[in-house]
Amino acid sequence: TFSLTLEADDHMAAEILEQPEAATRLLEEVGGRIATGALWNDLGLPRFDRMRVVACGTSLNAGEVIGSALSRLGGLAHSSVVASEAAGSVVEPGTLTVMMSQSGETADVLRALDESPEGFPVLALVNNVHSTLGRKVDAVLSCSAGPEIGVAATKTFVCQILVGTGLVISSLVASGRMDTAQARRLVNDLYLVPEQLAEAAAAARALLPPLVDEVRGAKGFLFLGRGAGVAYAAEGALKLKEITYRWAEAYPAGELKHGPLALVEQGTPVVVVDDGDPRLAGNIAEVRARGGRIITIGRAGSSIEVPLSLAAPCGPLAAVVPLQMLALGLAVELGFDADKPRNLAKSVTVD
Ligand code: G6P
Repeated sequence: TFSLTLEADDHMAAEILEQPEAATRLLEEVGGRIATGALWNDLGLPRFDRMRVVACGTSLNAGEVIGSALSRLGGLAHSSVVASEAAGSVVEPGTLTVMMSQSGETADVLRALDESPEGFPVLALVNNVHSTLGRKVDAVLSCSAGPEIGVAATKTFVCQILVGTGLVISSLVASGRMDTAQARRLVNDLYLVPEQLAEAAAAARALLPPLVDEVRGAKGFLFLGRGAGVAYAAEGALKLKEITYRWAEAYPAGELKHGPLALVEQGTPVVVVDDGDPRLAGNIAEVRARGGRIITIGRAGSSIEVPLSLAAPCGPLAAVVPLQMLALGLAVELGFDADKPRNLAKSVTVD
């Protein structure tokens, strides 16, 4: 069985375990400027009525979390566009385009920027403000995660979500759509995140090894969630694919009955991000009835419990830690080098 220690010699393990620290650092940097509206105002961008996120891979999953926070907290529309498919997508008046890319060098994102219609503001959310993307846009915000070496993004994902959610809250305050008292309550929720990430890592470390053993022979996995949990399910499936070379599909749990349930057979691992949505119980029962192996991550009573505040502006963020560790644990167990997955690159600078 695998173990994850702070002395782990792979970068990915160290970067997963460093997430609470990275989140704390980021909050020290931006936390005080969220509820005042300053984080948004300092960017010098015009007021917007809708958000369009353009990104690839893990950054796209982070963008989905941020966009749904904007809709949930501010009632504003959002869309997420895969950067390689962004050309020709219609941009409505009043749209803020947020290009998310930890490297700021991804060719698909840079091309989407070049092909963006004129006259619409673009904000980049990057881990390196001096990157090509950071230098070419109207405004740039750093996710300040520090260097990330593992090809599979981990701490940059968490930091993108934190600063992006802060940005959403800050812009809603600045545009008079949210009062400062509510913003302060939400910021207090963000300050809980580092501790929640640490607790989630501790729970996963204690409880994952036997689960990893159990699913090591599985050929394919399903990842399910609802609401804000959907993007985290997608990220869990992406991590698993990237470093374990197992097939993994993520779905909104309600879609199970419209197709993926046909994949479930005796022992099929089905990982559920359980944020407490009562409708998940029915989905879980459907999987169990077909012999699927349910692994729940989230609320009390889950296979791996993680602290969640139900009204948290970024949804069940702490659930991503066990999802990352499940992928890493399985990769280690199968003898793969998680830091250098086959066929993949940290930053893809070709189309
Ligand atoms: C590559 C990496 C992924 C990453 C994606 C987007 O495919 O392997 O981990 O999510 O690029 O990278 P970016 O730097 O734009 O966030």
